[in-house]
Amino acid sequence: MKKLLLLCVFLAAVNSLYSHTSSEKDNAVNEKTLYGKLPDGREVYQYMLANKSGTTLKVINYGAIVTSLTVPDRNGKLEDVVAGYDSLQGYIDGSSYFGAIVGRYGNRIGKGQFTLEGKKYQLTVNDGENHLHGGKIGFNKVLWTAKTVQDSAGPSIQLTYVSPDGEEGYPGKVMLSVTYTLTDNDELRIVYEGTTDKTTILNPTHHSYFNLSGSFNNTILDHLLTIEADSITPVDKGLITTGKYLNVTNTPMDFRTPTAIGARINDPFEQLTFGKGYDHNWVIRNYSKGKVRKAAEVYEQKSGRLMTVYTDQPGLQFYSGNFLDGTAKGKGVSYQRRTGLCLEAQCYPDSPNKPEFPSVTLKPGEVYHQTTIYQFTTK
Ligand code: GLA
Repeated sequence: MKKLLLLCVFLAAVNSLYSHTSSEKDNAVNEKTLYGKLPDGREVYQYMLANKSGTTLKVINYGAIVTSLTVPDRNGKLEDVVAGYDSLQGYIDGSSYFGAIVGRYGNRIGKGQFTLEGKKYQLTVNDGENHLHGGKIGFNKVLWTAKTVQDSAGPSIQLTYVSPDGEEGYPGKVMLSVTYTLTDNDELRIVYEGTTDKTTILNPTHHSYFNLSGSFNNTILDHLLTIEADSITPVDKGLITTGKYLNVTNTPMDFRTPTAIGARINDPFEQLTFGKGYDHNWVIRNYSKGKVRKAAEVYEQKSGRLMTVYTDQPGLQFYSGNFLDGTAKGKGVSYQRRTGLCLEAQCYPDSPNKPEFPSVTLKPGEVYHQTTIYQFTTK
């Protein structure tokens, strides 16, 4: 009897040791699984990153897409807060840029044209007469090379894409690396680094659709949004910036204090009519090249989830998911209008044609750099 008891104690001790080691291992290791194959046979992998508190991030090397991000609510319940499809085919066919890295140029370039060092360039047009989010086959529709990297802040993965000279009409061979780190403080940190062999333009961004409620059956209209900006860059009917600035005071674009996204979204305000809701670039205060500062905050009261966005970019595109219409499906839902919101750190739209805006020109020998952080806490 005594022997049996001793054996049980021994087995329990071994078991606890084993489960401890295995969970520690899970927290530190990036799991890699085959996610699907492209029509030409190339394999796409999904990488799972888990931090010390159990928050998880899934990324595929097609489009450098974030397919899942589970973060705790105020009771510690982990739920997925990003929109996504159920399979690779969804991402191949989809036109909503779910979770992707957008490039070379985030947002629109009027008529897809610009002049650089006296030379005119014509990009592919894929949004009416304009160029949007890198063109027909942007960085969201190509295969990236992935490698895990060591970062003391948490599990980390680096994706690299080499964009050939002339791709979608852009000059220069561009190499872009994007490093996703899921820090142990529940931050999704995205660091971009780019180089070119000819003078070009580069303005990539990240396009996750967030819904902090834990279910994409809910809209984001009750999410409280704060944006650290006193003005926006207003647009014309085609959503091309006019080159002017519009002060947000006394307008529905004023998010200087926490305001429900739905509170004024249907106001008869020309910019909202043009955007079919919010789809504008906010001029984030205190821009200074390379300096990361707070840009926005989103709070969902029922779950208690609070997302804070930090970036070193001059602008932030707030898009309220106006074009979602139930066509895109995944994770058990059809994504209806305004069930997800994007906060895309970027330089101002159409900046190559607006000399008064900060420049997106990248020359050989220079390094493009961006740091953007989506931090998750609760209150
Ligand atoms: C951006 C644009 C929107 C729309 C979405 C993707 O946020 O500004 O107009 O194109 O991407 O659907």
